[in-house]
Amino acid sequence: MSLLIDDNDTNWYKSIIQAVNDGILVIDFYGVVQIINKEYTNITGVTESEIVGELLRDVRPGAELPEVLLDGKIRSGVFRKEGKNNYIVDMAPIYNGNKIIGAVSVCKSLKEVHHLTQELNRSKKRLKQLEEMVESFHRTTYSFEDIVGQNKGLLNAIHTAKKAAGTDFNILILGESGTGKELFAQAIHHISSRNSHPFVPVNCAAIPSTLLESELFGYEEGAFTSSKKGGKSGLFDLADNGTLFLDEIGDMPLEMQAKVLRVMQDGVIRKVGSLHERKVNVRVIAATNKDLEKMISKERFRADLYYRLNTFQIKIPSLKSRKDDIPLLVDYFLQNANLHSLSPDESFIDLLMSYDWPGNIRELKNTIHYAMNMTESSRLKAGDLPDTINRNGQRSGEKTLERIIEETERDAILDVLNKTGTDLKGKKLAAKKLNISLATLYNKISRLDIPF
Ligand SMILES: Nc1ncnc2c1ncn2[C@@H]1O[C@H](COP(=O)(O)OP(=O)(O)OP(=O)(O)O)[C@@H](O)[C@H]1O
Ligand SMILES: [Mg+2]
Repeated sequence: MSLLIDDNDTNWYKSIIQAVNDGILVIDFYGVVQIINKEYTNITGVTESEIVGELLRDVRPGAELPEVLLDGKIRSGVFRKEGKNNYIVDMAPIYNGNKIIGAVSVCKSLKEVHHLTQELNRSKKRLKQLEEMVESFHRTTYSFEDIVGQNKGLLNAIHTAKKAAGTDFNILILGESGTGKELFAQAIHHISSRNSHPFVPVNCAAIPSTLLESELFGYEEGAFTSSKKGGKSGLFDLADNGTLFLDEIGDMPLEMQAKVLRVMQDGVIRKVGSLHERKVNVRVIAATNKDLEKMISKERFRADLYYRLNTFQIKIPSLKSRKDDIPLLVDYFLQNANLHSLSPDESFIDLLMSYDWPGNIRELKNTIHYAMNMTESSRLKAGDLPDTINRNGQRSGEKTLERIIEETERDAILDVLNKTGTDLKGKKLAAKKLNISLATLYNKISRLDIPF
């Protein structure tokens, strides 16, 4: 009988078997262990001197491998436990011609399987999150049909927006808070030729200025201490072939304005920590409620970026200047809430018409929702409106002294910070110039909502 162990090439086989990363045990025709490798010892704890040359059945009474010698059947995925170690085993006969001359078992530690399963689950979860994110970018919720109003100023804005949507120019949307800037941006993307690609909104005021660059452009692995393995794609990347909506662009720090302008001019981005540039094809729609021209004169906004964005300018009128649309909007919000049975009486509309709506359509929408919940009949009356509207109905937009002082303070601090810079050194210098302590400066920055 020619046994595997007697073969002249034994050393070759032994070396190969030792190099395999799974545990291997070979028995001969008699059930005597001929070979084990190091990984087998790692997994089971059984050493070569304990087992080689012994009958497997004697050393490991539960072993199933000797049965393979008898029935010649392959077994796979058999679960085994050895102390704390769990592992799975595949078993197979070894043939010479059609005669069984031995059997081999191959074991895989479940530690590694467990680790791989965990890794796979983590990757699956991340993939799902990314899929959802990309899908939500595509899903622009609003289109032009959702923009309600007949006012001439509004119709003008819609006309310009539709014209702009047919081109590939950048767009600047101006309007007070709550006038519908995001609604317009989405509607434009929706009918543009880019509509099968992502619409990616970024709120420049909500992202801390220190993170804005890596959010917009992404970063390479190792770009900074907390950077993720494999790096990260930026929002410009995600918006490739689609639309990037830079909301609240008036709050973007000056250094970032310069970098965004570069992308818009050259069409290339570079990740933080990378030497390579990559081409992107993105249409930028920017929006703000700030007076950018005033900011330019105070050197708080770059004139060159303004001109680049301003190819199409869409000015959305404030609700105060288009009160004629209030009844239409009230109907629209009632219908949208599926409350067709509710209707406003004259006192209700009159009171809404006499209010100045500093929060514009968003405030009107919230107010209607409030009244719908407060009313006890099917007619909405002035009494169903919140106190702010009732009390301030005659308000003419005059500013309180407190507001005037706050705004002046904010402007003065921003002026100085723009000259000194906004890093720690700049802030220390600004505090000195303003003759206040650094702590007071930080307090004011946070209280006055200064974006540095
Ligand atoms: N003409 C309109 N018709 C119907 N709904 C509108 C209209 N304009 C705005 N809205 C609604 O008002 C809310 C505010 O709109 P949006 O978020 O687009 O305003 P915004 O100008 O981006 O505000 P902010 O400056 O605060 O970010 C949204 O719920 C939007 O659907
Ligand atoms: Mg907005």
